[in-house]
Amino acid sequence: MKRKPMIAGNWKMHMTTKEARDLVSGILQQTKDVDPGNVDILVAPPYTALMAVSELLNGTPILLAGQNMHWEEKGAFTGEISPVMLKEVGCSHVIIGHSERRQYFGETNETVNKKLHAAFSHGLTPILCVGESLEQREANQTFTIIEEELKEGLNGLTTKQVRSMILAYEPIWAIGTGKTASPEQAEEVHAFIRKWLREQVEKEAAEEIRILYGGSVKPENIEGLMTMENIDGGLVGGASLKADSFGQIVKRGL
Ligand code: 13P
Repeated sequence: MKRKPMIAGNWKMHMTTKEARDLVSGILQQTKDVDPGNVDILVAPPYTALMAVSELLNGTPILLAGQNMHWEEKGAFTGEISPVMLKEVGCSHVIIGHSERRQYFGETNETVNKKLHAAFSHGLTPILCVGESLEQREANQTFTIIEEELKEGLNGLTTKQVRSMILAYEPIWAIGTGKTASPEQAEEVHAFIRKWLREQVEKEAAEEIRILYGGSVKPENIEGLMTMENIDGGLVGGASLKADSFGQIVKRGL
C-alpha cells in the first residue's frame, strides 16, 4: 500500500519570530511547485513563533505543529502550553514524546500516553516519537524499548485513533550527530513497528499509519531512506532550519 509521504521540520529551540517568518517564507518559495497531493509538508516552530508562522501559512497546504504540549486544557502549570492553545493558533498536529523531552524534561511513556489522549480529544493529530539510545542499541534492546514505548504510549487509544496518527522512529544516536541510520537499519525498525501494530492493534492501522524516520536527515540521504517500503517520510531537525535544504529534502523525497 502506498502511503502519502510526509516531510516534517522540527525547528526545536531555534528561530526568533523574525527568523521564523523569513524561514517559512523561504520554505513556501522553495516548495511552491510541489503538488500538495503528493506529499504533506509540516513545520513545528517554537511556541513563540507559532502565531507568526500560522499567519503566513494561512491558505497554503503547509501544516503546522506544536513541538510538545501539556495534557490539561488549562490550569496552574507554569511554563506549559495546552492543546486548546495550540489549536487556537492554527496547529493541526503536535509532536509528542520527542527523545529530547524524554531525556532532558522527564517525559515518560505515561505522560506521553496522557498527551496522546489529550491531543485526540482536542482534534490534534499526534506525531509520536520513539527510538533507542546508543547504549540500548549496543545492548540489543532496540526492539524491547520500541515495543515498550508503543505499548505504554498507545495504551487505551482506539484503533481508529491509532490509524490516524503519525509515528516517528528517531534513533537517539542519530539525532544531531550527523550519523544517520542506514536505510536498511531504519527499515528494520520501521518494519518491526508495523508488524507490532498489525499484531497488537489492527491490520488496517498497521497499513495506514505513516512512520517517519528522524535523525540527521539531509538532502543527500532522503532518497535512499524513501526507497524503503516502511519509511513514509522524514522528521527533520537541523536541515529543516534552512529553506533551501528543507525544500531539497521535500523534492528529493518525492
Ligand atoms: P536532526 O535532523 O538535527 O538530527 O534532528 C532530528 C530530530 O530530532 C527531529 O525531531
